[in-house]
Amino acid sequence: MKIETILTPTELPALAQRDLRATACVVFDVLRATSTFVTALHHGAQAIIPVSEIAEAVAFKKSGARSKESGIILLGGERNGVRISADGVDFDLGNSPREYTPEIVRGKTIVSTTTNGTRALRACVGAKTVLAASFLNFTATAEFLRRKNFENILLVCAGTGENQADEDVLAAGALAELLTARGDARPTISGSTEIARRAWLAAKPDLSAAVGNAENARRLLAIPELRDDVAFCLQRDVFPLVAEMEADGAIRTA
Ligand code: MLT
Repeated sequence: MKIETILTPTELPALAQRDLRATACVVFDVLRATSTFVTALHHGAQAIIPVSEIAEAVAFKKSGARSKESGIILLGGERNGVRISADGVDFDLGNSPREYTPEIVRGKTIVSTTTNGTRALRACVGAKTVLAASFLNFTATAEFLRRKNFENILLVCAGTGENQADEDVLAAGALAELLTARGDARPTISGSTEIARRAWLAAKPDLSAAVGNAENARRLLAIPELRDDVAFCLQRDVFPLVAEMEADGAIRTA
């Protein structure tokens, strides 16, 4: 097993040139897209459809598309951290995982567009497997990767805007640490994965302090109604599920 890591979103466009057919991509947008999707699935959402652009999400609504399951499609996501209103359409949900309660999402399909997370997921289309990962479903994701024994794993840090996001790098490093910690066949890890692993080892004694200084955490902490999202997204293993983007582009519980 080889583990490589994309540390910044500026590396994402190059994925289109790569053959990922033998690679499992594990996408982290800890604050907050992948944490939100995992929460939604745990609370009974049927599927999340990540799209890159607001116009794609709006087109879903305007087309009157119905989901295969309940028929009901909700629009979710953010720009600049807050719920979207565009082209005469008010989105049903923002990107706070705490909004995705069982009462609101059970049985629903959610079309979501976020600044970095949904683009990172879409950039992995064509990979053998694409997972949406977070601290919330951390061990379940690691166990799935071990069980499947993929030849290549690519940890994808979605970032904040054009920048590296510390919380994504730390989660990728934690996963690399777990996957290399035991077992006979130790994975080979790239230089970027080793950077993430070392960052995690340095930060893990006080993860909230390390993440609290990160760009997106500072932005969320400054918005009173969103500040609790940071602590929420740093909870470990509270939603033990694997979130996989399937061939039709929808993320479902694997
Ligand atoms: C993103 O996709 O960039 C984020 O999840 C941003 C956020 O919701 O804070």
